[in-house]
Amino acid sequence: MKDLFGKALLDFQNGNYTEDIITSTSISDEDELPIPYLFRNYKEMPKLEQKALQLTKGKTLDVGCGAGGHSLYLQEKGIDVKAIDISDGAIEVVKKRGVLNTEVKDILDETETFDTILLLMNGTGIFQEASQVSKYLTHLRGLLNPNGQILIDSSDIKYMYEDEEDGGFWIDTNAEYYGELDYFLSYKEEEEDAMKWLYLDFENLKMTCESVGLSCKLVLEGEHFDYLARITKK
Ligand SMILES: C[S@@+](CC[C@H](N)C(=O)[O-])C[C@H]1O[C@@H](n2cnc3c(N)ncnc32)[C@H](O)[C@@H]1O
Repeated sequence: MKDLFGKALLDFQNGNYTEDIITSTSISDEDELPIPYLFRNYKEMPKLEQKALQLTKGKTLDVGCGAGGHSLYLQEKGIDVKAIDISDGAIEVVKKRGVLNTEVKDILDETETFDTILLLMNGTGIFQEASQVSKYLTHLRGLLNPNGQILIDSSDIKYMYEDEEDGGFWIDTNAEYYGELDYFLSYKEEEEDAMKWLYLDFENLKMTCESVGLSCKLVLEGEHFDYLARITKK
């Protein structure tokens, strides 16, 4: 990984913001990811994220913290929060912004236990592929204190396969799950290695939770097929 995402965050943090990140996926054309959005404050966050922050309590883990807006908000509220990310650049930014407990770490390498685990801005993306969801959920289950909770958001992206003319869908039923995308990112003329990124619909998330001893409830639906879920031990 070249960590172009982290490089973009660092440029913004250091006052060198000149251009945005360009993303594309296996089913969509190029799009801009505005870097200021990754530095959004509470008021600028979508309702689903605000709701997740309202429900957060106890010792908290912010998984894939990015520029750390959620962690900063919680820390300012007096919540004991740890922010982790696989991006060196992201963690450098989060430290510069004042988050006290932070570490470059893959969620699968985390061993501490928590009362709340947050995975926000399409949290299921980190699972990468449908076939890996139970592995990640089982690991996350092991990181929960008694009465602990996982707050995670994602979207059902079936709408992206809809034919605008006849309203039908062009999903290939023999292929992998339709929410599994190849994700491409470039920044300042450099291309990141291709990544896998998973959008998981609520019913599939719930079903997989049930299969690994977790219970999954819908907390809130967004305006565009997106949702926030709360997962607890059964
Ligand atoms: C879409 S960004 C979301 C950032 C932040 N949560 C937000 O809402 O602005 C996803 C983040 O997850 C991080 N990430 C991806 N896989 C990860 C993993 N296995 N463990 C920890 N962080 C991961 C990426 O480096 C990236 O910063």
